[in-house]
Amino acid sequence: MHRLLLRLLLPPPVLLLLLGAALGPPGSAGLEPISTGIAIGAASALTGYLSSPRFYCAFVECCPGEEERPNSTVLRQNLDNKLFGQHLAKDVILKAVTGFVNNPNPKKPLALSLHGWAGTGKNFVSQIVAENIHKAGLKSKYVHLFLSTLHFPHDHQIAMYKEQLQKWIRGNVSACAKSVFIFDEMDKLHPGLIDAIKPFLDYYEQIDGVSYRRAIFIFLSNAGGDLITRVTLDFWHNGRDREEIQLKDLEPVLSVGVFNNKNSGLWHSSLIDRNLIDYFVPFLPLEYKHVKMCIRAEIVSRGNPVDESVVQKVADEMTFFPKDERIYSTKGCKTVQTKLDLVDI
Ligand SMILES: *[C@@H]1O[C@H](CO)[C@@H](O)[C@H](O)[C@H]1NC(C)=O
Ligand SMILES: *[C@@H]1O[C@H](CO)[C@@H](O)[C@H](O)[C@H]1NC(C)=O
Repeated sequence: MHRLLLRLLLPPPVLLLLLGAALGPPGSAGLEPISTGIAIGAASALTGYLSSPRFYCAFVECCPGEEERPNSTVLRQNLDNKLFGQHLAKDVILKAVTGFVNNPNPKKPLALSLHGWAGTGKNFVSQIVAENIHKAGLKSKYVHLFLSTLHFPHDHQIAMYKEQLQKWIRGNVSACAKSVFIFDEMDKLHPGLIDAIKPFLDYYEQIDGVSYRRAIFIFLSNAGGDLITRVTLDFWHNGRDREEIQLKDLEPVLSVGVFNNKNSGLWHSSLIDRNLIDYFVPFLPLEYKHVKMCIRAEIVSRGNPVDESVVQKVADEMTFFPKDERIYSTKGCKTVQTKLDLVDI
């Protein structure tokens, strides 16, 4: 206020003189045009930096820009290090996600439907994909996780849920084109609810001014787990390597099976009808050796050295099926953490 007043009252040369007196004796280096210039330059550079997205986004999470590409090497490393016994899922996810994020002009959002028994790694993979797009992963404000039993529990409110879901997706994609939506427990979702999001998954350039083509939708479901197990077991009985199983052995079975399964969340869904799901990703049942890999990874992530006798002990606590052959872990790697807590190292 005071300075402003001075500036209004005094002619500029007097002001400069006064300023000079304040900064140092006249004629000293204090107020040479060069140093003033540097000071002003530095100040404006600082202001520029402070208001730049780069500075701002170091503290506040920002929606990734159009040009930002997630690092696919990191995605591959994470899948290699954290996902066990899932050669198909690893392959499909890596290709699908890398291809999608590097496509300069996708024609529709990416829609992945992950299938398999509990504990086979579906949640894990959706988490890894989310982290690849948004560093904060599931904690990111641009990653949205819907649990059927939590968000859509009552069948009689389905009409309201549909409306709400559309509003959420529209709102979130308007705020960030690269939003990620994960629908867990699809098998417990009311049949029909998921069709509410069909318009967003379709090949439209935009709807009411919003483009959904950069968004990612991931559906998780136990449905189809039985079909996957049957095929995997057939390979085993025929003495063939499980790594020989190819996507074409499973994907068609899956899409048809899920479409015809009343409890899949995708029963007679127009998403399948209209081919709006880009990939059906099978998660195979896990064998004893894969469970051991999960246990080792869990021990390492807790910062402990791997003790094989502990690994063995925890693995032996798990139950396996089919009853007489005992090949596959009933709960995959799901209970590894709690079992490890019990064995205690
Ligand atoms: C991706 O990540 C890898 C491994 O962390 C790193 O070596 C590489 O430089 C990264 N690439 C880019 C483009 O940032
Ligand atoms: C985004 O989605 C969340 C649910 O995950 C919802 O609570 C929120 O209201 C949505 N935001 C907008 C702007 O619609």
